[in-house]
Amino acid sequence: MDRRDFLRSAALAGGAVVGARMGSDIDLPPALRGVLHQPLASPASVPAAAGGPLYLPATVSPRNLLLTAREHVTSIAPGVQSTVMSVGDGPVSPTIRARAGERATITLRNELNEPTILHWHGLRPPEKDDGHPRLAVDSGKSYSYDFVIDERAGTYWYHAHPHMRTAAQVHLGMAGMFIITDAEEEALGLPSGDRELTVLLQDKRPAADGTVSYNVTMGHDMMEGLLGSAAYANGVRTPSVEVSSAHYRVRLLGAANARIFRLGLSNQRNLVLIGTDGGLLERPVSLPHMELATGERADLLLDFTGIPEGTRVMLQSLPFDPPYRGMGGGMGRGMGGGGMGMGMGGGGVVPQGGAMDLLEFVVTKSVRDDFRVPTQLSVIAPVNEAAISRERTFHFRSAMMMHQINGRDFEMDRIDERIPFGSTERWVFVNDGPFPHPVHMHAVQFRITDRTGGRGTLYPWEAGWKDTVLVYPGERVSVVATFNSHRGRFMMHCHNLEHEDHGMMMNFEVE
Ligand code: C2O
Ligand code: CU
Ligand code: CU
Repeated sequence: MDRRDFLRSAALAGGAVVGARMGSDIDLPPALRGVLHQPLASPASVPAAAGGPLYLPATVSPRNLLLTAREHVTSIAPGVQSTVMSVGDGPVSPTIRARAGERATITLRNELNEPTILHWHGLRPPEKDDGHPRLAVDSGKSYSYDFVIDERAGTYWYHAHPHMRTAAQVHLGMAGMFIITDAEEEALGLPSGDRELTVLLQDKRPAADGTVSYNVTMGHDMMEGLLGSAAYANGVRTPSVEVSSAHYRVRLLGAANARIFRLGLSNQRNLVLIGTDGGLLERPVSLPHMELATGERADLLLDFTGIPEGTRVMLQSLPFDPPYRGMGGGMGRGMGGGGMGMGMGGGGVVPQGGAMDLLEFVVTKSVRDDFRVPTQLSVIAPVNEAAISRERTFHFRSAMMMHQINGRDFEMDRIDERIPFGSTERWVFVNDGPFPHPVHMHAVQFRITDRTGGRGTLYPWEAGWKDTVLVYPGERVSVVATFNSHRGRFMMHCHNLEHEDHGMMMNFEVE
């Protein structure tokens, strides 16, 4: 992050720009709005999307739901059929949509040629329903889940979680969104139906023929995690979606193996962030860009009002200078400055912080849109510091091809921490190594209270209820969680998929 960005973000974190200022042009007369935001080359007509249409996963209810995991061939770019692993027929898995309080009765049928299990990331089901890797079922077997969805409305997700194979399976499509709605959220009248999109963001390394496999090198990829050469949204390479000149609710999921996205729009309009991992924020926040690491979600309102038909707006990962050095070695950054990437489509890996085009919106219809962004979204109780009964510190360290927490590799049956049921604790995540770690906890939603070292500040996208937090080298990040969902064995781990597969996980028992 350069100094200018830092100051801008710091100002935002301090509340300088919240709520009222929604779009940069909110006060302009409608006739002027689109004019100011026309991209440099505004096409007269709408050419066929370069990346093919955005794949829209089927929406399913969690009631009596059968999810069959299988390897199959599907389209991942125009003219490209590739072998994926997913539930259903698409390049990613279906979207589960439920109301808070509903019961989930789900059967996973494993028709992959290897073990798998599904974990409901961000939800807090009982131990038997949490998808811990030790519950993985072999090829040909099934697993039944039965739990009550006791969460706030929000953008959650689910993904494969078998030990040592999570990275490959998620990379190839064993991931989907899990959307929860409730009465509080419905009362806000947020854009819905056609004006709500759920998008899972990844990066991969297509071969010359465009097909994708999970192919990591033992050296560099095993340390920094897999960084790709092209971006995929809902499993399709930089796709395109038609929109009306209206507000859209776009729920984004960071589902890459290792990439951190810096989200921004090519037309410079701000993103309006309304929710994070565990649901709505108190108030919307207008941001020029925001970061999204693996496991994190951003619930956004995008404002396409006043934009003329035919205009294309790209959701991008903007270039940034990550506060660490990649491995170099010809494939990493190496140039010192970072930020420029190594080009799109040249087949070269885009280093962490390199620019990428993620998803193109094409405005194809002018409509009248009276939607106003609500100034108040929800109420979030302040962190109750007085309730904190204990502090635990976890050191994350990657070195010599190992990824460890507190000096230990993951062991399936070792309980690393014992937590009294109902207690509130402060957990401090310390990054002692050279790579960033998005740290995730099962069984809780936490609040991020403090970051020292490294970037030394908290960002607006780290507000609200969270289950994943990005910890860069040199940082010490504190979170506060209450362990009151269920007793049993759960886990905390780095969500960099190569790191978690190679040991950066631990078990805790709530007892
Ligand atoms: Cu999304 Cu244990 O993970
Ligand atoms: Cu999880
Ligand atoms: Cu990590």
